[in-house]
Amino acid sequence: MVHVILRNFFLFLSKNQLLNQSARKWGLKLGASQVVAGETISQAMKVVRQLNQKGLVCTVDHLGEFVTTKEEAIQSADYCIRTLNAIAKTGVNCNLSLKLTQLGLDVDSRLCYENMKKILSCAKKHRIFVRIDMEDYSHCQQTIDLLEKLRNEYVGLVGTAIQAYLYRALDDVKHLKGLNLRLVKGAYKEPPEIAYQKKEEIDANYLVMIKQHLRSGSYTAVATHDHHIIDKVKGFCKEEKISKDQFEFQMLFGFRTELQEQIAKEGYKMRVYVPYGNDWFGYFMRRLAERPQNVSFALKGLLSKS
Ligand code: FDA
Repeated sequence: MVHVILRNFFLFLSKNQLLNQSARKWGLKLGASQVVAGETISQAMKVVRQLNQKGLVCTVDHLGEFVTTKEEAIQSADYCIRTLNAIAKTGVNCNLSLKLTQLGLDVDSRLCYENMKKILSCAKKHRIFVRIDMEDYSHCQQTIDLLEKLRNEYVGLVGTAIQAYLYRALDDVKHLKGLNLRLVKGAYKEPPEIAYQKKEEIDANYLVMIKQHLRSGSYTAVATHDHHIIDKVKGFCKEEKISKDQFEFQMLFGFRTELQEQIAKEGYKMRVYVPYGNDWFGYFMRRLAERPQNVSFALKGLLSKS
């Protein structure tokens, strides 16, 4: 019960535009620096290099919420391109994650498509994969539609994430067979009309979805901090003789770091999602919503005044 109240509270805060805007001026406060790699590209690249040295590969995300104008969307796309160029220049083992609302999906879907094409042309030049994060349900179909428009032109360079809490998830995974998909449980608050609410149901659907995509021969990114799921996936892949080249595990920067390193040492590909930028508030609140224990980050941050 307390868990549900806290979850709803933090998700509510994550959507508060005023707090998000104010937080941009605060610097990384409330302990956010433990889960956000810095405010600049060069700080992010430094963190990525350190993770690479530990045998971890990365995906980097320039944080951004509430893009409401064409200018902001173009600026976000430029940031993505600068990030791709920095990855190529520094030679780190890293790809890019982004959100379509940052690129103007809510402003003008045509503009968002054009921004994606600009980013993917740069990604193609450098041979860097681009992952479209999945946002709340109101953007799900638009995200898949846009991906469909891009997948043939940018083969092997673009994919998205599918959320196991949605009833439609298994159909989407089937439909997107052949694409590199990140499979997640789902981070937003969605109603029972469209999404499972119980953890057991979400976990069960998650495993079915992972097995379905792996069995279809498609590259699968299993993005979870849940060691039960990770162990089951490892067991399944051994049983079905699925090569370690066909899948990877993913976790967020700052979470379960020992487990990340252990998975890499076992010879699995382990990718860390590294967010950076000054627009950290919404991302940080969603992380607090996922797991009440994450509040300890904020408490530690308050005590250390960082
Ligand atoms: P969950 O929170 O269900 O925890 C299950 C169990 O795992 C816990 O009971 C505990 O035993 C253990 N555990 C979890 N976290 C732990 C910790 N920090 N320390 C110790 N034990 C822990 N969502 C989305 O909607 N769209 C997206 O594009 C993405 N992208 C994305 C990328 C990456 C790399 C990750 C890791 C996650 C996402 N997500 C996401 C978020 C995702 O949907 C989900 O909300 C979170 O990962 C939380 O669910 P988990 O599967 O990690 O475990």
